[in-house]
Amino acid sequence: MTHVSDPTAPRIALVGATGAVGHTLIELIETRGLRHRDIRLAASARSAGRVMDVDGLTRTVEDLAEFDFSDTDLAFFSAGTSVSQQWAPKAAAQGALVIDNTNAFRMDPDTPLVVPQVNADAVTGRPVSGIIANPNCSTIPLVRLLGTVEERWGIRQVVVSTYQAASGQGQHGIEELQEGSELALRDPDAELPSDRFRPALAFNVVPFIDRLLDTGFTLEEQKMLQESRKILGLPHLDVTTTCVRVPVVNSHSEAVWVEAAAPVDRAELVERFAALPEVTVHDRHAPGGFPTPLTAGDPDHVHVGRIRVAPHNPRGFWLWLVADNLRIGAALNAVQIAENILERELL
Ligand SMILES: NC(=O)c1ccc[n+]([C@@H]2O[C@H](COP(=O)([O-])OP(=O)(O)OC[C@H]3O[C@@H](n4cnc5c(N)ncnc54)[C@H](OP(=O)(O)O)[C@@H]3O)[C@@H](O)[C@H]2O)c1
Repeated sequence: MTHVSDPTAPRIALVGATGAVGHTLIELIETRGLRHRDIRLAASARSAGRVMDVDGLTRTVEDLAEFDFSDTDLAFFSAGTSVSQQWAPKAAAQGALVIDNTNAFRMDPDTPLVVPQVNADAVTGRPVSGIIANPNCSTIPLVRLLGTVEERWGIRQVVVSTYQAASGQGQHGIEELQEGSELALRDPDAELPSDRFRPALAFNVVPFIDRLLDTGFTLEEQKMLQESRKILGLPHLDVTTTCVRVPVVNSHSEAVWVEAAAPVDRAELVERFAALPEVTVHDRHAPGGFPTPLTAGDPDHVHVGRIRVAPHNPRGFWLWLVADNLRIGAALNAVQIAENILERELL
């Protein structure tokens, strides 16, 4: 039981509690034992009145439009960028510290962008904005690996292709993939649902996530560049990405090429990755000796495999990573930010 009467334990609000990230947050708060004095759930008017179980206690979902944050110490926002833009500053003004899962404030200079294993010290007290931003789901696992490479060899360029799961588009994304897959198996000519993914994702691969920018890159691709620079404190880091949606239910994968400033010793690289917190290296030179979304294992770890230095260019190496986007890429990172703040008594 993590619900306690201790007056130093925070009163928590979960905005977007009924969504894919919201459900994962609730599960992690329960299983990781994030102590709290109170927990309130908010979503849109559509879900207001719905009853959910949190830590053995029944909670009723409240309408965000009528929510008052003055009795909230810590508010997790996972209800979309426009909802955060409108409501997170109000929650912060009413006294809550906001941990925001959306893109709304990530590049705001008054808002730290935090991956606790990399830059927990970006938070030294209450941020000016009252908000701490959680990075994009593909950026988090990438920066958790790049820091050690920069420290040892220096990084010249990073080229990434992502393979992003349907759950990145929330509960409706998962349902659309499942429904489309069933339809396509029954009738290959059927018109497939294409609301969250365009064109339809079932039995397809779609190199387009979020919206298109004037540069020809998508916003998702731009996020990976800008956010990596901010988190790692490397304003000139060269990261270039193609973001691709694939018909996988959950867990994003990435094929990453890193060109370092000096020749890289593979054994030392493997050792360095294996020494990172909550990273599992899969380094068996055999079929299946690599992580996949279905077989990677511990969903709270970043899984790395296929680590190979290019024979023609010893400064360059490839790796393959797999990370649960709902946990590592969203809810777990947010809970770990909260744990870190509470541990350092910064709330
Ligand atoms: N899925 C991921 O892997 C992932 C990773 C990183 C970040 N994120 C970000 O996290 C956020 C949530 O993602 P998700 O995957 O959990 O989406 P989701 O499954 O679609 O859930 C959306 C949640 O937001 C609520 N909501 C929608 N419109 C609202 C409004 N106007 N007012 C109040 N609540 C509203 C929904 O409540 P109702 O039940 O009332 O509709 C639901 O609880 C998004 O901003 C997303 O970009 C997601």
